[in-house]
Amino acid sequence: MDRKRILIADDQADVLEALRFLLKAEGYQTEAVSSPEAVIHALETRDYDALIMDLNYTRDTTSGQEGLDLLGKIQATDPTIPIVVMTAWGSVELAVEAMRRGARDFVQKPWDNARLVSIVKTQLALSEALRKGQRLEAENRLLRAEGKPLMIAEAPSMQPVLQLISRVGPSDANVLITGEPGSGKEVVARTLHAISERASKPLVTVNAGGLAEGIFESELFGHVKGAFTDAKADRVGRFELADTGTLFLDEIANVPFNLQSKLLRVLEIGEMERVGSSKTKRVNVRIISATNANLAEEVANNRFREDLLFRLNTIEIHIPPLRERKEDIPLLASHFLSVYAQRYRKRLLGFDQAAMQALIENAWQGNVRELNHVVERSVLLAQDTQVRLADLALRSSSTGSGRLDDMSLEEVEAFLIKKALARYDGNVSHAANALGLSRSALYRRLQRHNL
Ligand SMILES: Nc1ncnc2c1ncn2[C@@H]1O[C@H](COP(=O)(O)OP(=O)(O)OP(=O)(O)O)[C@@H](O)[C@H]1O
Ligand SMILES: [Mg+2]
Repeated sequence: MDRKRILIADDQADVLEALRFLLKAEGYQTEAVSSPEAVIHALETRDYDALIMDLNYTRDTTSGQEGLDLLGKIQATDPTIPIVVMTAWGSVELAVEAMRRGARDFVQKPWDNARLVSIVKTQLALSEALRKGQRLEAENRLLRAEGKPLMIAEAPSMQPVLQLISRVGPSDANVLITGEPGSGKEVVARTLHAISERASKPLVTVNAGGLAEGIFESELFGHVKGAFTDAKADRVGRFELADTGTLFLDEIANVPFNLQSKLLRVLEIGEMERVGSSKTKRVNVRIISATNANLAEEVANNRFREDLLFRLNTIEIHIPPLRERKEDIPLLASHFLSVYAQRYRKRLLGFDQAAMQALIENAWQGNVRELNHVVERSVLLAQDTQVRLADLALRSSSTGSGRLDDMSLEEVEAFLIKKALARYDGNVSHAANALGLSRSALYRRLQRHNL
């Protein structure tokens, strides 16, 4: 357990000395400062678990005004830190005013040691509970409850992938996973985390493709209340959520260029700031990233920073497309069949020969995800104890082209967009990629076609 760190502030050296002595005996770390400016400076540069502060700093003042002003400033810097103020005997009014301005409790000088210690303990416990609550809530939202993923990979072309996974999984090395859409990049990322020493710690995913540029930074790094118009409260970013665990940066090619340098800095020195805060936080995360883009090409076109790529791809794992590991198709198909047969309560024993042949020969541009969906649909359609060729409802490559002849250019465009969206499960980034369009260009077309 880390020892709690308490900041103490008073202009009198003997008071600081006595507090330091008392708190140290209770097992706390302390740091002493003797002016309001030094308090602010300390809070801006380090994390403290609590602050015990005097209200008067200049010898001849007893009004407490300096202390009250300081409380206001702390509210602007770190509104969550528990503060205990010290007041002179008989100035309960002042203590009340201090609590109005954010202090959590007060002691009167000369203080009673036992009472002071008990107040500090209570405040630390309360703030810990609060912080945990905030963290748990955020974790519950973000972390999927799935455990270790099932990964079917027996084809010869998958053996190098499996070897790499077992070699680098347990290390802290950053891994970049590449492969076509639906080829299993997320499955590999989860497997890497599951066999690492961080397995019992969070695996937090950020999908760079799914976030609007404006909120991306605050998703990653969090923000403090007031950092921008919608920042109504402090927010924990995903880097902090993943602390001591693994951060999975999915669709990494979509990280906006101006944020790439910030990302690089966290990866290089393990430090970051919440948006709107100048306070530096340390984070310890392992980075696994994934992309279906060609990052070397993105670098050549000045869309991706080369130094960031070098940080991310300490180890690169490339997953071959499904058409290059056909040996796995029967295993994957049977696995999906039993999953869906159970889910939809159908008694299905397998695929008939023609159906299996068609599965093996299909092009699978959508890779394992497409196979998964085709099997799910066929389970629903099957009327027998075996899935037949017709149940697969595979689009043979010739269908569609006859119809295209009768369409206008506009209709063809709408048709292709719908097809791409269906193939990628409604994922606009992937569909745009496949169509050779930017996301925004695809969005414009979706609007135009009323899709
Ligand atoms: N080797 C595998 N064994 C079992 N299931 C797999 C395997 N590979 C992929 N799948 C399944 O296929 C689907 C797609 O996989 P996944 O989401 O990992 O692909 P992806 O490469 O991340 O896709 P995208 O590029 O679209 O993000 C998931 O349902 C996943 O569980
Ligand atoms: Mg994915």
